[in-house]
Amino acid sequence: MSNTVGDRGGQKPGSGSRPAPRPMPGSVGMGGPGGGLSNSQSPPFTVPMRYMVLGILGFFLFAIDMVFESSRLGQGMPLQPAVVSMTHMLTLGSLLAFVMGAVYQLSTVAFLIPLSNVSVARYNFWLYAVGVIGLISSMAVWWTPGLIVFGSLVTLSLYIFVAVMLMSIRKTTVKGPVVWFIQWAHVYLAAAVTAALLLVVSFAVPVIGTVFQELLWTHIILATGGFFTFLILGFSYKLLPMFTLSHGFSTKRQPWTFAFAQIAIWGLLFGIWSHVAAVTIGGGVFGIATFMNQGLDFRGIYKKRLRRRTEAPMITAMSAIGGGVLAILGLVVLSFGRQGLAGWQAVVTFYLLGWITLTVMSYAYKIVPFLVWTKRYSVGVEKGKTPLIKDMIDVERARPVFIVFVVGLLLLAVSGGLAFVPGVMIASVLCAVAIVWFCWQLARVLSIRTLGKELMVRD
Ligand code: HEM
Repeated sequence: MSNTVGDRGGQKPGSGSRPAPRPMPGSVGMGGPGGGLSNSQSPPFTVPMRYMVLGILGFFLFAIDMVFESSRLGQGMPLQPAVVSMTHMLTLGSLLAFVMGAVYQLSTVAFLIPLSNVSVARYNFWLYAVGVIGLISSMAVWWTPGLIVFGSLVTLSLYIFVAVMLMSIRKTTVKGPVVWFIQWAHVYLAAAVTAALLLVVSFAVPVIGTVFQELLWTHIILATGGFFTFLILGFSYKLLPMFTLSHGFSTKRQPWTFAFAQIAIWGLLFGIWSHVAAVTIGGGVFGIATFMNQGLDFRGIYKKRLRRRTEAPMITAMSAIGGGVLAILGLVVLSFGRQGLAGWQAVVTFYLLGWITLTVMSYAYKIVPFLVWTKRYSVGVEKGKTPLIKDMIDVERARPVFIVFVVGLLLLAVSGGLAFVPGVMIASVLCAVAIVWFCWQLARVLSIRTLGKELMVRD
């Protein structure tokens, strides 16, 4: 495992036909100095960008929905159709959509491979988009035939995504924990949606419903822990050094982080199915160990950085580890008692917002401008007229957005715990304001009119 960014891991030069983009101003990329987030093997701009735009749009709609549903959230009404629909607006309509686009792009640079099938990745977007819109709408009104039809569409589309990614990564010569994390993340995503499909089918086939609780927890653990967390942990080892310009840090701890994360997932799953609380708690303890170990790794990367000033999104990406630890601590504490579903729902929401969402937002501030810059200015622009990335977005403007979001999140956790409805409502408004602010900042980078034209053409 390399401990420096830009190591090609013995990979042969890219075989793609498109010209390599011009070096990114002031950047050192995963594919080598100046390679940025793009290389000759990266997919065409429209492939990742459509997913990312869907993700940003979904995030905006989630913010509005969160305000409307805040009183229901405050009253602790878990598994209500409107709440389940809102959760999937966040997870499927926003986070997963954005992350799929990012994975298509980042994997080609991190692993120096082309996508195994760009056309499938391109057309699968429409299957996913139609499936997600139908599934979220069916959840909102709890329409069982819609849940089954659109749930199956989303599941199929995610199986296709997983197949494209696993077949692509198979060809990499890069070795080590980053590859393990990303491969396993995709295996867990396939398993998570299989559990989801069984949940959906259980509404029509009651016999499956006898293990509904176990299936629900399997779905949640595999989707949030197995997929999102593995993916973030793996890519953070590449992205954080890249954006802080860090070199020469130790990678000794990384295999341990991976081992702890695996034990955590399997411990939690065994605990859920065996109903032995001690096993679940053991899984939670290993989950905390995973985040602690990753935190130490981040400290090592941070210490070896060349960029003196660390940007707000990177500070947030590192601090979000605290959100993960707090959520798992909550899970462990709940395992000791006999809390109702509302307590569990609060912990899951905190994990989703305080760890996964916060990290995805942080990296989005860096990834989206890089991609737009590469598309618009890396070729064919007159010398001297090329803007810098910092002209497109001043990432320090992310700081107030994160502050409002984190204040809202903490208020949400405290008010939710005390079942204080007005507190939950104010907290939801704060989180929503931060999210809309974030979407507005990214929409300005994307420059919607230009983007519209770019997404219309076949590249
Ligand atoms: C990686 C993406 C996903 C994540 C992170 C996720 C997360 C969750 C969470 C946290 C819950 C608990 C309910 C809540 O908190 O509101 C849940 C429930 C559920 N999910 Fe997902 N989910 C994902 C994908 C899917 C997919 C693709 C389907 C459909 C095929 C699905 C179907 C369901 C169903 C049916 C429930 C149970 C709802 C109930 O009976 O009340 N999920 N999911």
